[in-house]
Amino acid sequence: MAKDANIQRHVEMASPARDLFQKCREYRDSADARTQGFYPYFRRIDETVGNHVICDGEMKIMIGSNNYLGLAQDPRVVEAACKATQKFGAGCTGSRLLNGTIRLHVELEEALADFLQREAVLLYSTGFFANQGALIALTEDGDAILCDRENHASIIDGCQFAPAKLVPYRHNSAVSLRNRLKRLPPEAGKLVVMDGVFSMSGDVADLPPQLEAAREFGARVYVDEAHSLGVLGSEGRGVVHHFGLNNDVDIVMGTFSKSLGSMGGFIAGEEAMIEYLKHRSRCLIFTASLAPAVAGGVLKALELMRQEPERMEALWKNTRKMHEGFKSIGFKIGTTQTPIVPILIGSEAKAFQFTQRLYEEGIFATPAIYPAVRYGEAIVRTSYMATHTEQDLDRVLEIFQKLAIELGAFDDPAYTDPTRRKGVFDFRLDTKEDFSDNGEKPFQAARNTTPPQPQPQTAATP
Ligand SMILES: Cc1ncc(COP(=O)(O)O)c(C=O)c1O
Repeated sequence: MAKDANIQRHVEMASPARDLFQKCREYRDSADARTQGFYPYFRRIDETVGNHVICDGEMKIMIGSNNYLGLAQDPRVVEAACKATQKFGAGCTGSRLLNGTIRLHVELEEALADFLQREAVLLYSTGFFANQGALIALTEDGDAILCDRENHASIIDGCQFAPAKLVPYRHNSAVSLRNRLKRLPPEAGKLVVMDGVFSMSGDVADLPPQLEAAREFGARVYVDEAHSLGVLGSEGRGVVHHFGLNNDVDIVMGTFSKSLGSMGGFIAGEEAMIEYLKHRSRCLIFTASLAPAVAGGVLKALELMRQEPERMEALWKNTRKMHEGFKSIGFKIGTTQTPIVPILIGSEAKAFQFTQRLYEEGIFATPAIYPAVRYGEAIVRTSYMATHTEQDLDRVLEIFQKLAIELGAFDDPAYTDPTRRKGVFDFRLDTKEDFSDNGEKPFQAARNTTPPQPQPQTAATP
């Protein structure tokens, strides 16, 4: 009734304007997938039990989360979140700038600055806002942001909203970056931004040569540590520390929604830059601050991450096991070097079907399709935790092997025929930029599963 009334109202308005809702009513993709029985999104979790979840009354092994260290369910973290709620209430009901700064926010900023060895830190309500907020506020008309074309959506959106020109460069390629930098006016302000660990492929930023190129052209460097915090670097300080380049990278961004088991994000860097963001960043000023439970929980999670290095060790042990396990079955796992293990399936339909069968067999994973990954290279994105047991992981491998045979996963033309993908529009930033730089080779991460070794600091020329 209400829907018909709305349509009627629009007709009655007799306006020549395009009806914005028309596309919504015509949208069928999700309904079609539901009809075919393999819609994989918005699955309802009724309970979380360690590294398992209960859905539809059944226990599933979770291999689709970013809870790398298993801290989201740690009773000490949960207790700290509860205590913070009791002391400060369920929410701060206001912006950091006005009534929304509580003691726990300030303590968390200080603890992070100390941990990351940075002058100052500023919390944002999400990692998405941290990226958008910083990129928009720090750049001006006439500046350029050089963006790895496989960067996270929050960076790409931030670049698109920022007044600066967006200049994408080939994934993990210092040659491509240098070529882009060369073409920019020398006087333009420049910022190079990259994920530290790429969220779909699991590969690590080839930071030293990109940093060198940036320095050559006077560009500032910004690294998103969303998937590297708690995973790489001493005590989990991230990619920048892992390469020994903390003094050379200007801005570090991070999230609490992965290793630190909660939600929220931050920007870390020099005091003057943070002070500027505090007063100029709209994504900070015009939104409510982190809930007390989040700040209290993250403070405790950070403390535990530092006190319990065995978590990171267990994470890497599990990561190595899964890299080897999938490869020995015959799956392609790309260039991952981290606990993010993308299982190449090929076609979208097969990736959806594979995910559905995994779910029926007691495994919770999610597919990723274009534009999250290149067209024709749909994956089942899996990721591992410190708290997965040998038994969990053996079960996961057993089911993947069974389904590969059952669904003919390796027979998909998109899987077996790499030429099929030749010439495909294979970069995700919607741009007409030409990537065919002479002599350019995209960075290929080593295919071993040992955490990459720190590079000497001299790799970067200031
Ligand atoms: C690389 C990267 N950056 C930023 C974000 C956004 O973080 P948040 O979930 O805290 O908004 C994500 C989230 O998936 C991410 O993968």
